[in-house]
Amino acid sequence: MQPTDLLTQRHSTRRFTNQPVPLDLLKTIITEAQRSPSWENTQPWKLYLAVGQTAAKIRNSHAAHAQAHDKSWTEVVPPKEWAAHPQANMDQWSQDLKSQLSAPDVDDFMQAQGQLFDAPAILYITIPKDASSYSVYDAGGFGNSLVLAAYNHGVDSVTAYEFIRFPAEVREQFAIPADESLLIGIGLGYATNSKVNKFQTQREPLADILQISGQ
Ligand SMILES: Cc1cc2nc3c(=O)[nH]c(=O)nc-3n(C[C@H](O)[C@H](O)[C@H](O)COP(=O)(O)O)c2cc1C
Repeated sequence: MQPTDLLTQRHSTRRFTNQPVPLDLLKTIITEAQRSPSWENTQPWKLYLAVGQTAAKIRNSHAAHAQAHDKSWTEVVPPKEWAAHPQANMDQWSQDLKSQLSAPDVDDFMQAQGQLFDAPAILYITIPKDASSYSVYDAGGFGNSLVLAAYNHGVDSVTAYEFIRFPAEVREQFAIPADESLLIGIGLGYATNSKVNKFQTQREPLADILQISGQ
């Protein structure tokens, strides 16, 4: 696949089949994503990969918490009130969702969250506790490289806050040191034919976000 195709064709998958991704392939994808740039090569991320029975245990635990409407929280600075610009993009995203999917498919989209998208593999990214914004930047860059590397190998993905909103269920399965914070999770697997996987998101016109000076 051409690099441009990777960038334009990758999109989030929210319903995965139960087909496992071979462990060696997951390791290859992670190794490739490790090439991401970071502040003075700090590589602040640590990774925890749930597959097989562990991924199933986390999915089951998550479904129970979601159904009980348990309070969720994050180990990193949580989203506060959004500034007008990102808020407008989120509003557009919601409108797009409702215009592209039928009401039952929107319900399935929402239900998929509580079921962790049925992801057969989940990669959790941690950063050092109280890390600077640059480490957050670096770990985000790693995550983005990872989803592109996965797509390049025919593996679908979704990056989601949903994976880490009950941090205890993740910590139960791994020995994550107390000085690391769970930043995000990425689900990996193979997309079903579900309508929720056909949802297409827009990007802002370049002129709205880019100023060029010097021409
Ligand atoms: C930090 C982050 C958190 C996200 N959290 C969720 C989530 O909890 N649930 C979800 O369905 N999608 C989540 N997403 C996926 C975004 O909604 C998606 O990337 C965005 O709408 C662009 O769509 P695309 O990935 O299909 O291009 C998240 C993405 C990022 C980068």
